[in-house]
Amino acid sequence: MPQPTPSGSRAEADYGCPACRGYLAELRHDAWSPMSREDERTAMTDIAPTTALGDLALARPGAMPMLERLQLDYCCGGRRSLEEACSQRGLDPHTVIAMVNALDSGGDGGAEPHDVARASLSELCDHIVEAHHRETRQELPRISELLETVVRVHGAQRAELLDVQTTFSRMRDDLEQHFDLEEELLFPVCRAIEAGAAPAQLDPRVLELCTDTHELTGQALSALRELCGGYDPKLALCGTHRALLQALHRLEGDLHQHVHEENNLLFPRVRELAFGSQECP
Ligand SMILES: [Fe+2]
Ligand SMILES: [Fe+2]
Repeated sequence: MPQPTPSGSRAEADYGCPACRGYLAELRHDAWSPMSREDERTAMTDIAPTTALGDLALARPGAMPMLERLQLDYCCGGRRSLEEACSQRGLDPHTVIAMVNALDSGGDGGAEPHDVARASLSELCDHIVEAHHRETRQELPRISELLETVVRVHGAQRAELLDVQTTFSRMRDDLEQHFDLEEELLFPVCRAIEAGAAPAQLDPRVLELCTDTHELTGQALSALRELCGGYDPKLALCGTHRALLQALHRLEGDLHQHVHEENNLLFPRVRELAFGSQECP
């Protein structure tokens, strides 16, 4: 998991990115099978210690809640192998593999919340907006209100609550700008490319900026978890604090899944379409 660095700085970037606009007239059809990479991933039946966590989460989405509980980072850390991630958490990768396989055979948690791996790019963008952006946009101000109350009542005795408020406020600002960027610039380009557009309109800086924000969000979530005692409800100071801990815990799980669907599924497919490889020019 990323180390908590809530005060980490970010590079200034061009959110407006006018270079990405205005190329629709030059679009060309790119013959590409949108299912090929996903078919390859979902066809993976055997999980090995060398399997990347992001690929594991794509092939076995029902295992994501378990990965959350084990704090195995499958979103920003999705390129790491299961073996490497387990080593950092002091876990045995073979035990984790057995747990994932037991989920599949027992039917407990094996249901796929949304078959994102088989969705088209447009469907995936729609799903991310509907299932993640919309709900998070509603939840962020509610959590800010809970934090204001908790800090006002308990802040004088519990200084870490001010750190929670500062870290959360910075993350909220970043996320709200980030969702606008994705919905107004990146996702329309994804839909256009899938519809046969030439990939030239995709500015690689947009993908880099989005990936950087995901990384910062992962760092902020790690810091919040540490500041909130792992969201243990027994640490709640009052009913409002308990509601705050529950809301932050739920937000953490949703953001991990959200970033996973973008970092490990949407962005690789868009890079491959636009640049013919996973490397931006
Ligand atoms: Fe998003
Ligand atoms: Fe994102």
